[in-house]
Amino acid sequence: MRLPTLSLLAGAAVLPLSLAQSLDANAIIQALRSAGLNSLAEAATSINSTEIGISLFTALLSGQNVTVFAPTDQAFSNAQSRLGGASTNDVAEVLAYHVLLGNYSSPTTANTIISSTSPNVTIARTFLNASDEVRLEGNKSQVLAWTRQGDAVTFINQNTTTTVQNVTHVSNITLAVIDQVLAIPRDIHSVIESNSNLSAIEPVFGTQTTGPNGDNQALIDVLEDQRGITIFVPNNDAVIQANATLLQLAQNTTALLSVLGNHIINGTSVYSPSITDGAKLTSSRGEELSFTVNATGVFVTSGNATAQIVQTDLLTENGVLHIINGVLTNAESDEQKAGDA
Ligand SMILES: *[C@@H]1O[C@H](CO)[C@@H](O)[C@H](O)[C@H]1NC(C)=O
Ligand SMILES: *[C@@H]1O[C@H](CO)[C@@H](O)[C@H](O)[C@H]1NC(C)=O
Ligand SMILES: *[C@@H]1O[C@H](CO)[C@@H](O)[C@H](O)[C@H]1NC(C)=O
Ligand SMILES: *[C@@H]1O[C@H](CO)[C@@H](O)[C@H](O)[C@H]1NC(C)=O
Ligand SMILES: *[C@@H]1O[C@H](CO)[C@@H](O)[C@H](O)[C@H]1NC(C)=O
Ligand SMILES: *[C@@H]1O[C@H](CO)[C@@H](O)[C@H](O)[C@H]1NC(C)=O
Ligand SMILES: *[C@@H]1O[C@H](CO)[C@@H](O)[C@H](O)[C@H]1NC(C)=O
Ligand SMILES: *[C@@H]1O[C@H](CO)[C@@H](O)[C@H](O)[C@H]1NC(C)=O
Ligand SMILES: *[C@@H]1O[C@H](CO)[C@@H](O)[C@H](O)[C@H]1NC(C)=O
Ligand SMILES: *[C@@H]1O[C@H](CO)[C@@H](O)[C@H](O)[C@H]1NC(C)=O
Ligand SMILES: *[C@@H]1O[C@H](CO)[C@@H](O)[C@H](O)[C@H]1NC(C)=O
Ligand SMILES: *[C@@H]1O[C@H](CO)[C@@H](O)[C@H](O)[C@H]1NC(C)=O
Repeated sequence: MRLPTLSLLAGAAVLPLSLAQSLDANAIIQALRSAGLNSLAEAATSINSTEIGISLFTALLSGQNVTVFAPTDQAFSNAQSRLGGASTNDVAEVLAYHVLLGNYSSPTTANTIISSTSPNVTIARTFLNASDEVRLEGNKSQVLAWTRQGDAVTFINQNTTTTVQNVTHVSNITLAVIDQVLAIPRDIHSVIESNSNLSAIEPVFGTQTTGPNGDNQALIDVLEDQRGITIFVPNNDAVIQANATLLQLAQNTTALLSVLGNHIINGTSVYSPSITDGAKLTSSRGEELSFTVNATGVFVTSGNATAQIVQTDLLTENGVLHIINGVLTNAESDEQKAGDA
């Protein structure tokens, strides 16, 4: 199928005549340039005939409220090593991760965006839904996550601190200028590997298990293949504390896989705002995971083991990881409930 070009798209867009100047794709590009966002304007122009680019422009011209996280020219320049050799389609995927439906401009404070105070993390669904980058449950598109410090916000899951510099409006489009090009969440293995606090548990995820086709596979590979997954990942301190137990479990793969399976929720990405006091979920081994939120922090319990969640919302292509400070040494499993989960 030949995709319509940007000019066709712009011509076809039905725009309300109440506006003094009608908005079309060229006007958006022009508005980006006027805001000093030349590299973003160039990137947006370069994707004008990709399928993703067309869907983004369609959303921008639809009259709905759309928020665009708009990286500065300096941000694009800093991302040169990442984007320099990228294909047009890859650039389109990166830009799609910067676009949200809705007006995220803060109604109370200038030059910042809406952010939740309690919980501290805001999760927002982007337009990134390319099958080579996102495998969430129900074909959902990828999310962005940010935390709040006073009136400022910081994106989590980014190697470099990323903040909103200012917020302007072009018709119904909110442009939130940011100082980095946001990175798309990677696979579970890459996220664990690049976090030095998770190096002790990493080899444990290599435990051989039976894959969906009955073949032998590393647990990590089975997990990568799930659509929608939540994993409570023990940090290095947790692994040191549980060393004796883990050495014992290493003698019995069945028990080890049960313990690991009780750190996992299969088929659902449970982001931290859904982890509330008294919440109960079912692990991939059919055991109950229950949650406590109190003055000390947020805790997860499986069987008689409890650990504190010390870092939340590490996003992956197919779900989310939360770091915990203990190993949930529950080797029980309930096949019936696991099947229903
Ligand atoms: C917002 O930030 C951009 C990029 O740094 C800058 O060019 C522009 O002048 C700023 N706009 C306002 C209103 O501060
Ligand atoms: C699409 O962008 C290219 C530059 O990347 C440009 O040459 C072409 O004219 C643009 N097409 C439309 C329809 O804007
Ligand atoms: C902007 O949104 C309002 C409703 O919130 C709508 O009436 C108006 O037509 C939209 N503007 C454009 C340019 O689509
Ligand atoms: C856009 O957001 C404003 C609030 O900022 C709201 O009043 C308006 O209804 C929204 N428009 C649409 C089309 O959702
Ligand atoms: C978006 O929200 C901001 C802050 O409430 C408001 O100033 C702006 O007009 C809104 N934009 C639209 C298109 O509703
Ligand atoms: C939210 O989390 C960030 C990062 O962990 C922290 O710096 C900030 O103080 C927290 N804000 C609130 C209101 O708890
Ligand atoms: C983030 O850092 C990790 C490890 O330090 C690296 O593998 C990865 O490529 C970096 N990602 C980006 C987007 O720079
Ligand atoms: C666990 O204990 C074994 C044997 O005492 C030791 O060799 C290993 O380094 C320990 N591992 C950790 C992570 O402490
Ligand atoms: C291994 O663990 C499983 C599950 O906890 C248990 O049923 C089994 O008896 C154990 N096998 C050995 C040899 O200890
Ligand atoms: C997750 O659920 C799917 C579908 O029910 C199943 O095939 C898979 O084995 C489960 N994975 C784990 C790790 O429990
Ligand atoms: C919060 O809950 C955890 C886990 O149940 C518990 O260890 C801790 O003492 C509790 N803290 C307070 C202040 O109640
Ligand atoms: C925790 O539960 C296991 C059975 O799942 C049991 O063997 C163990 O003794 C219990 N530990 C404590 C401290 O209650």
